[in-house]
Amino acid sequence: MITPRTAASVHLRQQGLYSPPCRIRQLTSTRHKINYQTGYRVLPVANHQDDTRTAYDGVVELYASLFANRLETQPFSRAMIGTFAELVRATGNPRAADVGCGPGHLTAMLHELGLDAFGLDLAPGMVDHARQAHPALRFQEARMESLPIEDGALGGVLAHYSMIHTPPGELPELLSEQVRVLAPDGLLLVSFFGTDGQEPVRFNHKVTPAYSWPADSLAELLADAGLDPFARLLHDPASERGFLDAHLLARRS
Ligand SMILES: C[S@@+](CC[C@H](N)C(=O)[O-])C[C@H]1O[C@@H](n2cnc3c(N)ncnc32)[C@H](O)[C@@H]1O
Repeated sequence: MITPRTAASVHLRQQGLYSPPCRIRQLTSTRHKINYQTGYRVLPVANHQDDTRTAYDGVVELYASLFANRLETQPFSRAMIGTFAELVRATGNPRAADVGCGPGHLTAMLHELGLDAFGLDLAPGMVDHARQAHPALRFQEARMESLPIEDGALGGVLAHYSMIHTPPGELPELLSEQVRVLAPDGLLLVSFFGTDGQEPVRFNHKVTPAYSWPADSLAELLADAGLDPFARLLHDPASERGFLDAHLLARRS
């Protein structure tokens, strides 16, 4: 029987949104998706990561020209990244990954802030660009879903607008992977498009579809993944879309 609740779930699913109730999250590997019409668990057919990689590979130079110097005009982001770097240094383990590093400018910033930073990105064109722009630093092609990093190795992980393309139903598993590579007391800084309400909102990002998140909902996922989200900054955007710029800082508990 279709209840208002299942009807709402079907509606979300049709929009490409998937925010299952906790009961389903506990019972189901996030590699599987619930088909709300049949109730069966299925593996996704389309791989959104391939679409994301292709999309970013097609805009490397344009993206770098627009964003590689952008933090010069973004004092709040600079402040949060500076705080993150200071807290990572204080753990005594300066090794830090910039996941979804794009053109590598924030990897360079972390390096300047005293971290042993390296960058990872799923788009090979971004990795090539980052290597050429910052030849002294290390960059590698890798997916955030499967990091080529040993357990508990890092003092910090920076995910600056790089989880925005991950469908909401896959975010818990993605966060678990970031937690896996953090040392106890290691820090995760997630920056993203913030929105009101309770649910993530899918929107047409200029490169490839993305999701904005209510900060409370994302903080809850961080806590579910074994992190303590202890600081946040939300501020008016520079973008015309009207989302907030949002930053959550969490520590591995
Ligand atoms: C909006 S850009 C952000 C780049 C950079 N962090 C910045 O703030 O300018 C998103 C980046 O994340 C990368 N990315 C998206 N999904 C990813 C995934 N699952 N694994 C690794 N990189 C990913 C994209 O290739 C792209 O370079």
